[in-house]
Amino acid sequence: MIRQSRKLEHLKYSMLLDDGPAAAGFADFHMVHNCLPDLAWRDIDVSTTVAGITLPQPVIINAITGGAADVTNVNRELAEFARQTGASMAVGSQYAAIEDPSAAESYKVVRRANPSGVVFANLGAHAAPDAARCAVDMIGAQAIQIHLNAGQEIIMSEGDRDFSGYLSHIEAIVKKVDVPVIVKEVGCGIGREQAKALVGIGVKAIDVGGTGGTNFLAIEAARGRLNLDAEMVSWGIPTAIAAVEVVSEAASAVDVVVSGGVRTPLDVVKALSIGGVAAGIAGPVLKTLRRKGLDGAVRWYENFATDIKRFMLLVGAQNINDLRSAPLVVTGFSREWLAARGIDTVQFATRKKT
Ligand SMILES: Cc1cc2nc3c(=O)[nH]c(=O)nc-3n(C[C@H](O)[C@H](O)[C@H](O)COP(=O)(O)O)c2cc1C
Repeated sequence: MIRQSRKLEHLKYSMLLDDGPAAAGFADFHMVHNCLPDLAWRDIDVSTTVAGITLPQPVIINAITGGAADVTNVNRELAEFARQTGASMAVGSQYAAIEDPSAAESYKVVRRANPSGVVFANLGAHAAPDAARCAVDMIGAQAIQIHLNAGQEIIMSEGDRDFSGYLSHIEAIVKKVDVPVIVKEVGCGIGREQAKALVGIGVKAIDVGGTGGTNFLAIEAARGRLNLDAEMVSWGIPTAIAAVEVVSEAASAVDVVVSGGVRTPLDVVKALSIGGVAAGIAGPVLKTLRRKGLDGAVRWYENFATDIKRFMLLVGAQNINDLRSAPLVVTGFSREWLAARGIDTVQFATRKKT
């Protein structure tokens, strides 16, 4: 019951609260205009792959909801949006349906609304390996996201307080399920040390889930009527910085998804240029569906997708792979942070297509 009302409160407060206050960091990343793009609009290909799964669009509607009868319609609409736009979609944490199978319908609706789309299951890292299998089967998922959210939990009065043993829990899930495991943060980011550890246990993709977008510390504070200190509410690794950290540590072994405050088509292009294979967006999809309805939201995404292609043309990138060799200049705080972490940003600014 607490879980069900929490789902509704998350939807409510995510609509009410703004992004941040910490930034996602994309403002420090600059693509360089190419006045001789040497390619045709019709040849630009935005398709990509995550953990061996082909995605027609480089945008994933990140995990949002499920688990209560009242949110079944939200999931149906998100799935319909995904079907019409070609974006892939993750459902919200399925723990509610593991505890109470009558809640499964609020997730299954996604597969019915989008029978052939790419859909990801979602559970927390404490879930039992059998529960992960069950979550995948529940919606015929092509992969499962395992979320990490220590920041959110410790603000929630009813949240978890023991985060020990998560790495071996996730390893057991990796061994148990027949689909790739994507580990994701929900807004505090993943750094290079943890990325290395996750590679070591066989996860296939990492979604960096950094600061700058939907802020679950702020949402939990609003739910619990807590006055969170500004330092606490800004906690985490900015998304663009986390993306560089994880790409530089782990991209040869896993696919990197970039999420947390990805808001514009240019943010997506920068995320892919850093080396991500796709970008995840949650809050804005929900807000746009609520404000503009399904047709308006689909039109919003069509314009968004067109702008992704426009920016690709303007940097001379025919496909996602080309974006990784397009020059990307890193300035300001992000450059200083990355230098301090031993990551050379000049390599991004001076690279060329081979
Ligand atoms: C209402 C709401 C509920 C969410 N529930 C989940 C969840 O169950 N599991 C999860 O991994 N992430 C969940 N998230 C987090 C998103 O997947 C995403 O990581 C986060 O919102 C940052 O992306 P954004 O800035 O584009 O919103 C939720 C987000 C929203 C807005």
